Amino acid sequence: TFAHESTGDTRKVDNVAHRGASAYAPENTIAAFDKAVEMKADYIEIDVQRSKDGELVLIHDTTVDRTTDGTGKVGDLTFEELKSLDAGSWKGEEFTGEKIPTFDEILDRYHGKIGILIELKAPELYPGIEESVAQELKERNLDKPQNGKIIIQSFNFESMKLTNELLPNVPIGVLTGSPLDTTKEALEEFSTYADYFNPHYGIVTKDLVNQVHTLGMKISSWTVRSQEAADFLFEMGVDAIITDYPDYVDPRN
Ligand code: G3P
Ligand code: CA
Repeated sequence: TFAHESTGDTRKVDNVAHRGASAYAPENTIAAFDKAVEMKADYIEIDVQRSKDGELVLIHDTTVDRTTDGTGKVGDLTFEELKSLDAGSWKGEEFTGEKIPTFDEILDRYHGKIGILIELKAPELYPGIEESVAQELKERNLDKPQNGKIIIQSFNFESMKLTNELLPNVPIGVLTGSPLDTTKEALEEFSTYADYFNPHYGIVTKDLVNQVHTLGMKISSWTVRSQEAADFLFEMGVDAIITDYPDYVDPRN
């Protein structure tokens, strides 16, 4: 959690490690999530997609090309094939052998230890993925109110409406980089099913933060990769900062 102690400003802003502490370790791997825990982040952010044979896996891009030694679309590869890939060495030799994690292993390893901000990445490519995610949470009793430590978000608003119906006790977030989604009408519509409005920091203003709060939602903004961006968002009054650097975005530094 961040706080402006030097200025006497005691507002708490959650520190969310984007794809894990992804500046320091390969994104969406155990190495990056462990690093986030070590750096005392409040949440890890994870990107969930699905293998050809139905396993929920963590990877950001819809192809494996950038972050593994393989090629092809995530949804065209079986879990066996995805599991055989090296998801670490692109980031540095010391990470060789990091694997694409499964959603269930990450829930088991981290819930109770750190918050989990679950992004459904391109859910339109994976019909039924909302039900599968709901199932995994229900099996672990994580569909009950968790003091906000499990949140689900997506750029796909229909998917979030559905997820809200499947998991009425789990907070929902909508992601956007578009100013068109910041009109009064759009925000009111989001507030009918979402608990978080999570914009790119380029469209954040104090007025937007106030409007979101007035509608009873919280606001988490991304992706912070500099002290300036972190300071800006703290100044704007957001509730959480989603960052690749969970260590140095503390405005006190
Ligand atoms: O959590 C917000 C952020 O992850 C959205 O963008 O592309 O990094 O998934 P992206
Ligand atoms: Ca993401």
